[in-house]
Amino acid sequence: MKQATTGIPAEETRRGLYREVGEKLQGLLAGEVDSIARMAGVVSVLHGAMPHYDWTGFYRVVGPELVIGPYQGTPGCARIGWGRGVCGAAWKSGESQVVADVHAFPGHIACDAASASEIVVPVKDANGRVVAVLDVDSVLPAAFDAVDAAALESLVAMYVSPDRGMC
Ligand code: SME
Repeated sequence: MKQATTGIPAEETRRGLYREVGEKLQGLLAGEVDSIARMAGVVSVLHGAMPHYDWTGFYRVVGPELVIGPYQGTPGCARIGWGRGVCGAAWKSGESQVVADVHAFPGHIACDAASASEIVVPVKDANGRVVAVLDVDSVLPAAFDAVDAAALESLVAMYVSPDRGMC
């Protein structure tokens, strides 16, 4: 697991970092139609850019489960059931989950004991159906807030959702 050494960037710095991530992805993913390749690009650029991220990856909806997709960090759990853990809650509710203390989240799945906080953002198709989730863990408590949620929602809508508007 990448150890966050520089802490959580201040709000304006974080907004700027997310803007830069979007600019990089626009170039990197231009013309790429394969969904796994697009997820891999998003994970790589985000994980490299954000100092408060320690595990960054996608889980894809495959039948009755979430199955792990492209990720960076320590080995993640391969499969997560409907409604299970933070990822399953995002899948079930269709809403982003911002968890300041994973140990206080009922049913949290601890893939890495060092993880302290987590954000999970659903990826939806044009009909609003959840097709995947983006999961980010941090070793820092309360590493994520509404700024991260809004930025990640917009990045996945633009670069990962099927039927996305651009690129
Ligand atoms: N903590 C997640 C499981 C996936 S790992 O963090 C990579 C959860 O509770 O859904």
